Amino acid sequence: MFSNYVEGLSPYKNKGEVGMVENFDTPDELNEKISLLADWIKTSKHTVFHTGAGISTSAGIPDFRGPKGVWTLEKQGKKPEINLDFNDAMPTLTHMAIKSLIKKGYVKYVVSQNIDGLHLKSGLLREHISEVHGNMFTMKCNKCNRSFTSQTAVNTVGQQSLNIRCLRRTKKGNLCRGILHDTILDWKHKLPSNELQMAELHSINADLCVCLGTSLQIQPINLVPFKAKKNKGKVVICNLQRTMGDRKADLVIHTYVDDMMKSLMGILGVEIENYNEQLDPTKMANLTDWTIYKIDLLNMQDMKKYATKSKKRKFQDQIF
Ligand SMILES: NC(=O)c1ccc[n+]([C@@H]2O[C@H](COP(=O)([O-])OP(=O)(O)OC[C@H]3O[C@@H](n4cnc5c(N)ncnc54)[C@H](O)[C@@H]3O)[C@@H](O)[C@H]2O)c1
Ligand SMILES: [Zn+2]
Repeated sequence: MFSNYVEGLSPYKNKGEVGMVENFDTPDELNEKISLLADWIKTSKHTVFHTGAGISTSAGIPDFRGPKGVWTLEKQGKKPEINLDFNDAMPTLTHMAIKSLIKKGYVKYVVSQNIDGLHLKSGLLREHISEVHGNMFTMKCNKCNRSFTSQTAVNTVGQQSLNIRCLRRTKKGNLCRGILHDTILDWKHKLPSNELQMAELHSINADLCVCLGTSLQIQPINLVPFKAKKNKGKVVICNLQRTMGDRKADLVIHTYVDDMMKSLMGILGVEIENYNEQLDPTKMANLTDWTIYKIDLLNMQDMKKYATKSKKRKFQDQIF
């Protein structure tokens, strides 16, 4: 349940600005801005999408700082009326549009702060996403560091034991002795280094980073899209409230992310795929390996040098 997630986290003081007014561009402004974004995407070699809680509000999952966000209501002495079970939440138009853009090669990578597992359910492959704050539908072994998808949302937060034995078999055929833990970060936790490194490598290499539905107030992930600026890459933000990144961005679009993505997909001529249960790891009989391997990072650090098959075989068992 969403409330278990929020209440399971330890108290947090640095909530920043909450409940800011929402801004809406006029239809003419939107046409102009979304056409420009479509042009940039068409000519970009490496586009990375950065997503936050705002892309899941239309799935019924509250954000933290929007007008009906958990922290905004908390300041008014209220609680969100909705308390969705993460198992019942479905990918939104935006999640499915991102999945479709990846398939067409327009988007190379997704960096998500979200823990709701909706990118996973949309059918994004592991090689296309970093989940820097964890995921309710993944579990990680405390011994071999391997990650696996889960068929149901985990019932703990803060990287606690799930009392489930790791599924990995060693080369000798023995089961790993580790225990699976949830992957949800509490405030005191460092970001998982493999997820963060991958997010940074893709963003440094990006000539376009597009931030959707995030107030860009949570550090250090709010700085990552702007790594693209080092190589003269552009940053675009689509969010209803103003964000911490607006002044540094090349383009800021104020509208609902689902509306923006629908228009964008129309201009790009890319059909939005429907949700497909067969591509959703949470519906699969066997758990999916959800590990980022050392070889994946090496390939990203120096594709030409390390992307050979022999290196791949050599490193495929090493994990960060
Ligand atoms: N769905 C989730 O997984 C979830 C939900 C709440 C919080 N969180 C966690 O808390 C942190 C909160 O930071 P954050 O920046 O993601 O959230 P945030 O609440 O700080 O900001 C969300 C932003 O999205 C905007 N927004 C909401 N709905 C929108 C829509 N339909 N279209 C356009 N904009 C919309 C709001 O104006 C708001 O500024 C995250 O890092 C995440 O780890 C996750
Ligand atoms: Zn293990």
